Amino acid sequence: MRVAVLFGGTNSERDVSIATAGQVFRALRDRGHDVSAFDTTAGKLKPSDEDRLMEATVPVEPPDLSIIPGEDVTMQLLGEPGGLRSVDVVFLALHGGTGENGTIQGLLDLAGVPYTGSGVLASAMAMDKDISKRLFRLAGVPTPDWYMVGPTAEFDDRLGCPVVVKPNKQGSTVGLTVVKDPALFADAVRVARVHDQEVMVEKFVPGREFVIGVLGGEALAVGEIIPQGSEIFDYRNKYQVDGAVEIFPAEIPDAQADEMRSLAVQAHRALKLGNYSRVDFRVDGEGRMWCLEANTLPGMTATSLLPQSAAVVGIGFAELCEKICQNALD
Ligand code: DAL
Ligand code: MG
Repeated sequence: MRVAVLFGGTNSERDVSIATAGQVFRALRDRGHDVSAFDTTAGKLKPSDEDRLMEATVPVEPPDLSIIPGEDVTMQLLGEPGGLRSVDVVFLALHGGTGENGTIQGLLDLAGVPYTGSGVLASAMAMDKDISKRLFRLAGVPTPDWYMVGPTAEFDDRLGCPVVVKPNKQGSTVGLTVVKDPALFADAVRVARVHDQEVMVEKFVPGREFVIGVLGGEALAVGEIIPQGSEIFDYRNKYQVDGAVEIFPAEIPDAQADEMRSLAVQAHRALKLGNYSRVDFRVDGEGRMWCLEANTLPGMTATSLLPQSAAVVGIGFAELCEKICQNALD
């Protein structure tokens, strides 16, 4: 297969995208595919830069938005000789922003280039947490209560405290704060607004955190995440070695795992997602499951959560990358 791994982006998940791209690139090349890599802000990678891509890891903090290259050149990459039109499939190793919200998907649709993952509508709906939660509710998938912040950004005690304040369309917990003191609410809204003018306030669910990969429309194994030194699974815990204990498969009763798997598929379908996703849950002290979100382009390093969820059912990382590409061509 001729595969173009498309990565980069202009949002704060850029570093995560680079790490995903490096490992997908390596895995597919090791399997004998003809793989090239394209940065959405800088174009096709020179062969001399490919080793660096494959070694990339995620720094401790998300990049400052001011230092991220602002201009997206994906449109030019479609037209140029040896560009994105010359491959069989584009592997979307993008996270967040225009790479995950349907924009790049629409561009590739227009150009007639097959790409991995979900289509325009599903990507747009899943990137918007408010829309996702409305659809979860309609589909009978429990999700914590929430409201969207109005123009005044004053604390509203309808959900009590603590609450989670987050940008409506952002990944990797960037810009997210657990607010335990109403006096800190306005600051949390300011932090979230750096990434998105729309800010969501969600009831905080004390309890345990679980994730489930979905592939080919079917749920893979449930995993439990135990963040180390933090109450929530934040950016640092997500990407640093030893930032979290990740238990795959989760040590929970079969009936509970089956119920969560079934809810994950319902959530995946509610958003009309494509071939794969990762659905995130919290489970409260009474064992009730609360779906937080579905990620259409979850992290895809060999040790990321979706690959771990797949490994439990015998699908290794390279095979997973191949299946994802193959699905885009079917
Ligand atoms: N947004 C990050 C990459 C994830 O869902 O894994
Ligand atoms: Mg997410």
